[in-house]
Amino acid sequence: MRLSGKVALVTGGSRGIGFATAKILSENGATVVITAKNQERLEKSTLEIHNAIGIAADIRNTNDVKNVVNKTIEKFGKLDILVNNAGIFPKIKQLHEIDEDEWNEVLDVNLTGQFRFTKEAIPHLKKTNGSIINISSDAGLKAYQGFNADAYSASKAALILLTKCWALEYAKDKIRVNCICPGVVDTDMTKPFLETRKDREFMDSEHPLGRIGQPEEVAKAVMYFASDDASWTTGAILAVDGGESIK
Ligand SMILES: NC(=O)c1ccc[n+]([C@@H]2O[C@H](COP(=O)([O-])OP(=O)(O)OC[C@H]3O[C@@H](n4cnc5c(N)ncnc54)[C@H](OP(=O)(O)O)[C@@H]3O)[C@@H](O)[C@H]2O)c1
Repeated sequence: MRLSGKVALVTGGSRGIGFATAKILSENGATVVITAKNQERLEKSTLEIHNAIGIAADIRNTNDVKNVVNKTIEKFGKLDILVNNAGIFPKIKQLHEIDEDEWNEVLDVNLTGQFRFTKEAIPHLKKTNGSIINISSDAGLKAYQGFNADAYSASKAALILLTKCWALEYAKDKIRVNCICPGVVDTDMTKPFLETRKDREFMDSEHPLGRIGQPEEVAKAVMYFASDDASWTTGAILAVDGGESIK
């Protein structure tokens, strides 16, 4: 088992990419703490994952975030892997149509939320020479005509650069920090874009490999970064996107 004895924390682990990630980490021997906002859904998802506990938290709330990390340490004594995955996708609007509350909400969850968890986790990851995996997006790598949700793109681009900053800063502590940029993945987040057969065919055709991705295909990349297979890899930005970002 590649992650035997490891303790992993997955934010947004109740659904989609986070759920698939929590599952694969646990299947590879890790004890997994999953966190999400909606308690009921979190409890249901936790039951489906072997060796996992769920701790509800709103990533926008610093005390909630501290509570998740503290409880993880109280219960399991350490933290080896942090997967910064929780995120929201706002309504697609042009910049001049976005009001400031919408802008702030997206940055609060997708960017400041990752800062909050990382800040609390770092002292513990220093002790284990741990690993952080940030889930960004192709939207952080390039602009999309007619598909822009500017706050989302800004949050995801910032996470890409923060990956490199944190990787450089904490390399002396032997903490590895890597980042994954998915293309369109079949989850609740993308449901509004996949409603009709025509929508789905369009989304499939946007990806050079001819289809959108499945959450498990992103989770496998997380698994790689979390394991010793990536022991000499830090600051890497990996597109897992059916080739979408090379267009
Ligand atoms: N799906 C894609 O095509 C795609 C592409 C590129 C990047 N990504 C990124 O991949 C990550 C996962 O996306 P997904 O598609 O799996 O999303 P999803 O199915 O919508 O799940 C989002 C997860 O984030 C949690 N979350 C949202 N707001 C939260 C908050 N305020 N506090 C705590 N948890 C919160 C949700 O928990 P609750 O249900 O409890 O709110 C849920 O567990 C996101 O960062 C997303 O931006 C996704």
